[in-house]
Amino acid sequence: MQPKVALDKNYWDKRYQTSDFGWDLGEISPPLKQYFNTLSDKTLKILIPGAGNAYEAEYLFNNGFQNVFVCDFARSALDNLKKRCPDFPESQLLESDFFKLNEKGFDLIIEQTFFCAINPALRKNYFEKMYELLQTNGKLVGLLFDDVLNADVPPFGGSAAEYTPLFQNLFSALHFAPCTNSIPPRAGRELFIELLKKT
Ligand SMILES: C[S@@+](CC[C@H](N)C(=O)[O-])C[C@H]1O[C@@H](n2cnc3c(N)ncnc32)[C@H](O)[C@@H]1O
Repeated sequence: MQPKVALDKNYWDKRYQTSDFGWDLGEISPPLKQYFNTLSDKTLKILIPGAGNAYEAEYLFNNGFQNVFVCDFARSALDNLKKRCPDFPESQLLESDFFKLNEKGFDLIIEQTFFCAINPALRKNYFEKMYELLQTNGKLVGLLFDDVLNADVPPFGGSAAEYTPLFQNLFSALHFAPCTNSIPPRAGRELFIELLKKT
């Protein structure tokens, strides 16, 4: 798999500016909503990288989680969140390349359609960066596609067997199984993951 376009901030920003975002659910993802509703500690430091329009961040913030950060290098996506959620702190909108993020010490990092959007050659770097950003006992939680998908433009797919060797030295899988409450178009095509940073 080799991307035929440069997957840089201009590429992604243009997609928001032209409303070319077929991945966007227009609301919080149901599996993540269900997971968030199990969390009782509202002081958790949470990162949502490649957050896009960030309905998950909006939900968390409106439900009392004040320590939520979003990272995206597409400014238009961050602006969209800010328009819907004006009280979201500017300092927690990280307009940055994920791989260059400096903010660390997260308790929880949320994945949804970010992993499938990056160049597949960077997948090992993705897990290494997640490891670096999480604090001891931190977790990477969310959804990964379990489907072949595209070869040249995002979304890039994969399978549990392909993903596991990329993270197993760094994370223990507390949960790594087919998602049971995906939105209908993604049903049977997603894994729900809960990966604990190894010490
Ligand atoms: C397919 S979209 C998913 C957005 C959101 N997670 C969702 O589910 O709606 C991928 C997002 O990742 C962002 N992105 C891609 N590569 C990135 C990188 N290296 N650093 C920061 N953001 C990145 C894009 O700008 C885009 O908003």
